[in-house]
Amino acid sequence: MSIDRRSVLAAALAGVFTLPLPRRALAAAEVERVDALIARMTVEEKAGQMTCLTDSFRPYNPPNPQVGIQNERQLADEVRKGRVGCLFNGIGVAGARRAQQIAVKDSRLGIPLLFAGDVIHGLRTIFPVPIAEAATFDPALAERTARAMASEATAAGLHLTFAPMVDVARDQRWGRVVEGAGEDVYLGSLLAAARVRGFQGRDLRRDDSLLACPKHFAAYGAVAAGLEYGSVDISEETLRETHLPPFGSAFAAGALTTMAAFSEINGVPATADRDLLTDLLRGEMKFRGFVFSDYTADEELIAHGFAEDERDAARLAVLAGVDMSMQSGLYIRHIPDLVKSGAVPMETVDVAVRRILYVKTAIGLFDNPWRSLNEDMEKARVGAPALQALSREAAARSIVLLRNEGLLPLDPAKGQKIALIGPFGEDRANLYGPWAFYAEKGKGVDVAAGLRAAMPDPAQLIVAKGSEILGPIDGGIAQAVEAAQAADIVILALGESQDMSGEAQSRTVIEIPPPQQALAQAVTAIGKPVIVLLRHGRALALHDGVANAQAILATWFLGSQTGHAIADILFGRENPSGKLPVSFPWESGQEPFFYDRKSTGRPVVDSNIEYKARYTTTDNSARFPFGHGLSYSEFVLDNLKLSDTALRWDRAIEITTRLTNKGKRKGSEVVQLYIRDRVASRTRPIRELKRIERVTLGPGESKTVRFSLSRTDLQFVGSGNRIIAEPGAFDLWVGQSSTDGLHAQFTLYAAEAVAR
Ligand code: GLC
Repeated sequence: MSIDRRSVLAAALAGVFTLPLPRRALAAAEVERVDALIARMTVEEKAGQMTCLTDSFRPYNPPNPQVGIQNERQLADEVRKGRVGCLFNGIGVAGARRAQQIAVKDSRLGIPLLFAGDVIHGLRTIFPVPIAEAATFDPALAERTARAMASEATAAGLHLTFAPMVDVARDQRWGRVVEGAGEDVYLGSLLAAARVRGFQGRDLRRDDSLLACPKHFAAYGAVAAGLEYGSVDISEETLRETHLPPFGSAFAAGALTTMAAFSEINGVPATADRDLLTDLLRGEMKFRGFVFSDYTADEELIAHGFAEDERDAARLAVLAGVDMSMQSGLYIRHIPDLVKSGAVPMETVDVAVRRILYVKTAIGLFDNPWRSLNEDMEKARVGAPALQALSREAAARSIVLLRNEGLLPLDPAKGQKIALIGPFGEDRANLYGPWAFYAEKGKGVDVAAGLRAAMPDPAQLIVAKGSEILGPIDGGIAQAVEAAQAADIVILALGESQDMSGEAQSRTVIEIPPPQQALAQAVTAIGKPVIVLLRHGRALALHDGVANAQAILATWFLGSQTGHAIADILFGRENPSGKLPVSFPWESGQEPFFYDRKSTGRPVVDSNIEYKARYTTTDNSARFPFGHGLSYSEFVLDNLKLSDTALRWDRAIEITTRLTNKGKRKGSEVVQLYIRDRVASRTRPIRELKRIERVTLGPGESKTVRFSLSRTDLQFVGSGNRIIAEPGAFDLWVGQSSTDGLHAQFTLYAAEAVAR
């Protein structure tokens, strides 16, 4: 199934969505009810609806000791007074029912609370981290896992998740690469929409529909030097072309909330950026839901040097278009006074409250405040065994086979002795990855357990840690070398801990930590066949000792079923099909690195020619490029054909190619279509992904893969932020990564031109 970029990019860029306006999604009577309610609300009650605090009724993620309310009694008082409208990051039906009882029965107006939480890649059942799942290049799978997460999260008493994170990540030093879909805008847009559909389902009023909150608006993934919370300095064109489309496709898929980013764009913090949150988000992109601030981000306007004090920060945020203040309490403390003093018009507050109440209405909270607060559902759906199978499937599909010099798959019948070496061999503390704080610690299946379960004789597995994650172990290397010498096959389980990935985990060096590298070098020097299993939340710059192993697999953080999924791949029960959603550079110093980069005036053609766009120590290419991933099958593309090499302005051309599985195993390949606009009024990338198609074939089978391209697929943001396509010559590749493929050329002709 090839996904038409048209519905993704054109809508996103042109801002012409047919968004389900909450108003349109609501019955007239419901709209009137909201308006009548607002008319009765005091300004404090309005500020209360615009306030979201950590949930002390069911504290799961300990509230930040510096801010917010720390105990249930105090918070209950705030709820009773109508001074809070949303609670976040608690789970459990019982606590939610206590809170909702106070809101609905004890407060003056009985407005139900909205319960939110960070369900990023699972609640109790943990799925692969989003960057891992992006490696499946399979939006349908992403939709299924999001649906499964929604089933658990709503059963645990949540109405909304602060997900999907849709920031396009341009620098692998940034820790939050792990939370998104990688470096490409097209793949990111497809997965953003799929995850929103999965979370929300088809009916927002259903008990198992989980509101999505695509975040962080906007361009957080472009922080300078990958420095967390850092500044973003990009052109309007790059903002619109690279960073907005995933939000556009998420909104087009029905998302009714979003979250402003911590970072600033061109000197204006997103949380106070009216051009961004009102003129662009609502004016151009027609977003109709409501905007959360990120955690205390409104208060942080002071530290940004953008607000004088708390009151000024609250004023700037609400005037910019932040409807719901998260955790700081600034709105409940300052909006009543700001309105009384005239610094903030009551109309501005009413607009924010209306947006929030529309969304609460749209999910049926007024008709049924006990929605998603059912203890029987909680028992039935949270941790349901069926979800483990989906987690295992998604995990296996997320694994990317980077290199395989004839070593994999292993044949369990051979009964080979395997030495499992490295800090992630027998380790259950780093299976889930970041943002899994609702999961039961230490419950996942680690690599050793997965291998033992798959081996006819588990005693054939020798485990030797060899080194800690960040430090050596006295005698560890010697012990590991000894284990390797006694084995037929060595498996090295190396990489980052989950604490080295995620928010506030920017790294200047994206390499295997030195003690692990030393371990790898010592073990590989023995000369036994070595398989490297990478544990990571970002691309890594690999070096010899690891990079020259006979087999290397990117296994990310795979969640609850890590060990079984890895064993499924290593022993060939599953045929690897993952593709890299992020480029693996040769050196950390190449970051920010991404495949869709510009040619420059001196592109490297031959590494020996000087005065070209390269570093003195390395070409500016990728060791393992975006879109790369091997299989145990051998997939071959041929017969590339275009219906026409002249693309008329308002027509389309069909592109076909034949994919054949020349291997002995059934497998899946992701066929990728890239273009290059050779000459344009703004320089264009050397490649841009426009289509993907995942194809599964048995041994010897072939399939004709069909794509179509039209002018809207060739659009870009030109001067003045106009979305344009320009006549001229284009390259096209249909391949299996961003650096290979069958090549063709076509020409886009202007409407009046007649193709010769
Ligand atoms: C965090 C993150 C955001 C998350 C929020 C609530 O700081 O930036 O992604 O959803 O706070 O936990």
